[in-house]
Amino acid sequence: KIEAVVFDLDGVITDTAHYHYLAWKDLAEDLGIFIDEKFNENLKGISRMDSLELILKEGNRQEDFTSEEKEELAAKKNSHYCELLKQLTPKDILPGVQELLTAIKAEGIPIGLASVSKNAMTVLNALNLVEEFHYCADAAKIANSKPDPEIFLTACEGLDATPSMSIGIEDASAGVQAIKAAGMFAVGVGESLDEADYLLKDTSELVWELIKVSFANRKN
Ligand code: G6P
Ligand code: MG
Repeated sequence: KIEAVVFDLDGVITDTAHYHYLAWKDLAEDLGIFIDEKFNENLKGISRMDSLELILKEGNRQEDFTSEEKEELAAKKNSHYCELLKQLTPKDILPGVQELLTAIKAEGIPIGLASVSKNAMTVLNALNLVEEFHYCADAAKIANSKPDPEIFLTACEGLDATPSMSIGIEDASAGVQAIKAAGMFAVGVGESLDEADYLLKDTSELVWELIKVSFANRKN
């Protein structure tokens, strides 16, 4: 019996991964650093400060700022991101997600959230999805970003679920690695997620009956 399903947020439930990208791209350009969508793949699932470090490294500017200045840069990105979040409504829930949540709930299986975003609850609120989740891991209490399994393990613990009997859903390579490191079954949504146990092109393919079949046929 499946004990829990744990969702990533940005890029799985809604396309806020794109808003993160727009806000980082803007900040990077102010610093004379150019990033594209391909580079952005490396930022998915990574904490705010770790993302900033990767961008500064890309521009060879890591040594140019004090830690206080870095905090300011990260805060600037975040306020831009929060501005973009203001347009978010339940219409922005990605295709297939609401149906999937409903199907899981109908079987009484606990649903969790594993996002390292400190804005996760703001996003869930804007989408009117808070009630769907039995447990949301608190990003503020997580020491290690994905690919470390910490946030997925925390979510399983919060749901009283055994990781090996639980499913994680991710759009980022670091996230799929985190799910696997937690010993869970990894559903990957998107490209370049070869480590996933079950790989889908986009969220419209998130069909509960098919996910269950692939979980039942998993190799250990
Ligand atoms: C998620 C996103 C990342 C983002 C991180 C921190 O993992 O995939 O792109 O940088 O959360 O988000 P925050 O909202 O706290 O800056
Ligand atoms: Mg994501």
